[in-house]
Amino acid sequence: MENRYLEAGNYAPVSEEVSATDLPVTGELPRELNGRYLRIGPNPRGGVDPATHHWFRGAGMVHGIRLRDGRAEWYRSRFVESDQGAPNTNIVSHAGRLLTLIEAGKPPVEISPDLARMAVWDAEGALSRGFTAHPKVDPVTGEMHAMTYNPRFGEVRYVVLGADGRAKHTADIEVPDGPMVHDMALTESRVVILDLPVTFAAAKRRMRAGLLVSDLPFTWDDQHTPRLGVMPAGGTAGQVRWIEAPAGFVFHVLNAFDNADGSLTMDVVRYGQVFTHDVRGPSDTPPELARWTVDPARGTVKEELISDYRVEFPRVDPALTGRRHRYGWFAGFSAHGLKITDDVDRDPAGGFGTGPLIKVDTETGTTTLHEYGEGRVTMEPAFVPRPAATSEDDGWILSVVHDATVNRAELVVLDAADLTAAPVARVHLPTRVPFGFHGNWIADL
Ligand SMILES: [Fe+2]
Repeated sequence: MENRYLEAGNYAPVSEEVSATDLPVTGELPRELNGRYLRIGPNPRGGVDPATHHWFRGAGMVHGIRLRDGRAEWYRSRFVESDQGAPNTNIVSHAGRLLTLIEAGKPPVEISPDLARMAVWDAEGALSRGFTAHPKVDPVTGEMHAMTYNPRFGEVRYVVLGADGRAKHTADIEVPDGPMVHDMALTESRVVILDLPVTFAAAKRRMRAGLLVSDLPFTWDDQHTPRLGVMPAGGTAGQVRWIEAPAGFVFHVLNAFDNADGSLTMDVVRYGQVFTHDVRGPSDTPPELARWTVDPARGTVKEELISDYRVEFPRVDPALTGRRHRYGWFAGFSAHGLKITDDVDRDPAGGFGTGPLIKVDTETGTTTLHEYGEGRVTMEPAFVPRPAATSEDDGWILSVVHDATVNRAELVVLDAADLTAAPVARVHLPTRVPFGFHGNWIADL
């Protein structure tokens, strides 16, 4: 059985680790960008069964681009090496450490700034049962909040790591059916657990019924009522207020913030359904950008769609995490047609296809795009504020762009305030970077 996530175009893994120095640059790299752009994705090394291989599985490979003083000093790609299963989903910086992350049972693997050395880092045992790919860092306290889970245990473990990397709070919250909990929401005062209908229990039922289950044992669960668990930041299991959520599934939360009336707002990328027809990737229904207004006092969630475009990989200015934001940046999602109104027959090969960079102004409802050119599509963007920025979009968008015409990648820098302008700079990489998951700009300290 063929499997597009192993074989098709830029989904296919690369076979080698690559090193290159003094990368060619078109345009001018801002001299303020001193640090590393790091991204990660799955890169199976062989021995996987195409019939059951899920896109989310496979050894992680980190792709790093070092920028300094207006130059692109190096590009390196390295497999994440770990005897406990290699994280493949996100790479972040916390407490002076670079951490590769994955959910559902594996602790982070720390990687040195030159990408040479790797070692499991579990916060002195606090993360030994696993972590998450999407922790949220409060920009004021520097604390890292995480909803962690392991489907073998019937709970979500909420962990708060201090700015020093030490675990300072843990709460175990009972959750039935073993839901996939990929992301969470953090506001200034609260956290939200996403308990949505993709579960380990449903995968087990499918298996017993003789239906295909991938090597990622989570599938759509129409017996699992979607709900949100709202609790105080740093709160306990007894303080969780469960509220029924709109139908569908959310991998990613753009951002969330408190409202004066006690409700909270969370902007999410919501799918109607995933992992039912296609159990090897999230291609069943297209993603839509929804604003959820969650009112714990009334026990209600109001949903409104806030973009005409299909988007994924939502990113906000990290300094506004948990605070009211205006802008979101996304990879446009084109596999079902870029606009919600596009009437495009779904490609029978399906897949999860990105396209242009998309900026949504949630105050005006305006969407602007940056098209990278024929055969060129962006992966997840990162917003990097300009030092002493004067507005929320005063900064740059960095993303790895795949160029199918030459089968190589570039790190492209855009002016976040003016997406219609030509790129500020394009760093030409010597190889392609497979479509993976998440990346971040890690500035030098
Ligand atoms: Fe993710």
